[in-house]
Amino acid sequence: MARTEPVSDWTSDFDVLDESYVRDPFPRWDELRRVCPIARTDRRGRAWLPTTYADVTALAKDVEHFSSSNTSVIDSVEEDENPILTYGLPPITSDPPLHTWTRRLLLPWFSHARVATYEPMTRALCGSLIDAHLEAGRADAAAEYAQQIPVRVIGAILGIPEELADTFTGWVRDVLEFADDPQRVERGMLGIGYYLWDRINERRTVDGDDLLTYLLHTDVEGEPVDDMAILGMAILTMIAGIDTTWSAIGSSLWHLATHDNDRQRLVTEPELMDTAVEELLRAYAPVTMARAVTADIEFNGCPMKKGDKLLLNFPAANRDPSVFDHADEVRIDRQENRHVAFGSGIHRCAGSNLARMELRVALEEWLQRVPVFHLADSADVLWAGGQVRGPRKLDVVFA
Ligand code: HEM
Repeated sequence: MARTEPVSDWTSDFDVLDESYVRDPFPRWDELRRVCPIARTDRRGRAWLPTTYADVTALAKDVEHFSSSNTSVIDSVEEDENPILTYGLPPITSDPPLHTWTRRLLLPWFSHARVATYEPMTRALCGSLIDAHLEAGRADAAAEYAQQIPVRVIGAILGIPEELADTFTGWVRDVLEFADDPQRVERGMLGIGYYLWDRINERRTVDGDDLLTYLLHTDVEGEPVDDMAILGMAILTMIAGIDTTWSAIGSSLWHLATHDNDRQRLVTEPELMDTAVEELLRAYAPVTMARAVTADIEFNGCPMKKGDKLLLNFPAANRDPSVFDHADEVRIDRQENRHVAFGSGIHRCAGSNLARMELRVALEEWLQRVPVFHLADSADVLWAGGQVRGPRKLDVVFA
């Protein structure tokens, strides 16, 4: 990740890629909420960073002044530099009306009922991933476990062979984790784009029970869906479902490796798994999204200008003590938990059922085989941040 000058004033010159912020952003948000709830910066373009639940959710719902035409926290490629993806990556990078019908096409693929059909393969996959490390008694829970799961599950939905899982993981990391390196972003986007384009073309003539085939053979108000809209939706499904979910699984395992009480309770009281999953999503929400300010507007005293970037800081909203009792404590039996890890408003995550299932199954299968584990060396944990925060290296020792 490109480094910039150290930050001396977080209220007017924040840097989401600052190393200490990526590792531990929580005290920063607590401080900002007290002294300057919407921080700003001119680094990598002018941007605003709200930190309260009320501001983040209000801003997320104002689609008139805050457009999804650019949702990247870190810009690498100018929007109009991409002549191929004429529809962008809908629905996430679109506003209504494009947003409305593309979202409607994707939602049924992630309904409760359909997600339930992916659970047995997810469970078998998680089991086999851990089994491979039982003899050694240790594993990198981020790279060798969490990272391996979502790419294979999404791959099955899109009809992508398992042998390509590592290639796709590399491409998705290029796009999201290395967003400040234009060459890597281009490599990732072209890799995913050309691969999916070939698969789309194959499915024009061959039948299959996968999302690409469905998009090719469905219609919207009597018209077939444009090829470039299909490609955009396919790329988004790949990108949106991988880094995000593996980061949530990795952060949850980090928490359990460093909080013996919670780990022990989940082993002896497995009925707490559902509230624990919500609480871990709240406390370690991985995703921050951006918006483009569409017209000059003053929001809570902040003079936002057309073209500024707004960062929808869902992770900070989730730690707001005015909404969550003891917000900085993880309480795996928390009953009231209206967290916004999956966003808020019309762009709320379309894959949240799938993400929840993967997180629950990944933790259940892990704890069943490895009920006791701890960090090999706390200084050796490596975090990634920016758009998606989560551990990238998480060596743990079993028992
Ligand atoms: C723990 C894992 C996940 C988290 C934390 C997460 C978070 C989010 C957030 C915060 C948004 C809102 C974006 C915005 O407001 O601009 C979003 C949108 C979206 N997510 Fe997820 N996501 C996760 C997993 C997934 C999975 C597994 C999929 C499945 C492919 C998925 C597909 C989508 C799609 C398609 C959208 C766009 C929805 C729209 O624009 O209407 N996500 N996600």
